Amino acid sequence: MTDPRHSGTEAGGNAPLSASIPMAGGSSRLLDAPLAGGSSRPWDAALAQQIIDGFAGQRGALLPMLHALQGCFGCIDDAALPLLARSLNLSRADVHGVVTFYHDFRRSRPGRHILKVCRAEACQAMGADALIAHIKDHLSVDFHETTADGAFSLEAVYCLGNCALSPALILDEKLVGRVTPARFDALVAGVRS
Ligand code: FES
Repeated sequence: MTDPRHSGTEAGGNAPLSASIPMAGGSSRLLDAPLAGGSSRPWDAALAQQIIDGFAGQRGALLPMLHALQGCFGCIDDAALPLLARSLNLSRADVHGVVTFYHDFRRSRPGRHILKVCRAEACQAMGADALIAHIKDHLSVDFHETTADGAFSLEAVYCLGNCALSPALILDEKLVGRVTPARFDALVAGVRS
């Protein structure tokens, strides 16, 4: 079953890798979602406000705003919460509650490489739990954490649409199936080299 805390960008493995973000004034900008922490922009309150203003008047704007902010800055900076709350006439607690409810939203900048491992049924049936245990041990991280060297952020996803080749993961946008611990180690070694 799909985890309801999944806000939609990763479900089915079709996470948008870029988004056309409406900007205040009617223009739009293409902001690439960060595939690695180093490709996201440093926090910029003025730019964040521009992004938020681009969704002004849109129904259900909070989630698109959050995705756009994370796409730009790599995470939802604490400083974004009051901007969002003011724009949407919500309390900061309301915004904080949404940000923390959905696993998709990061509270800190991600590592240079994003590793998303499928935890849904088909992958579980093919050994995902053992693979995940190996990954956590190999990288010394848990889900929603980044390795001490800033290289890898580990995230959970719920079906990548690759069930026939499970267990599956995505490493830096690349879908990989039939992942074994040995294959995972080789993937990581290849990225590190
Ligand atoms: S359950 Fe479908 S790819 Fe993992």
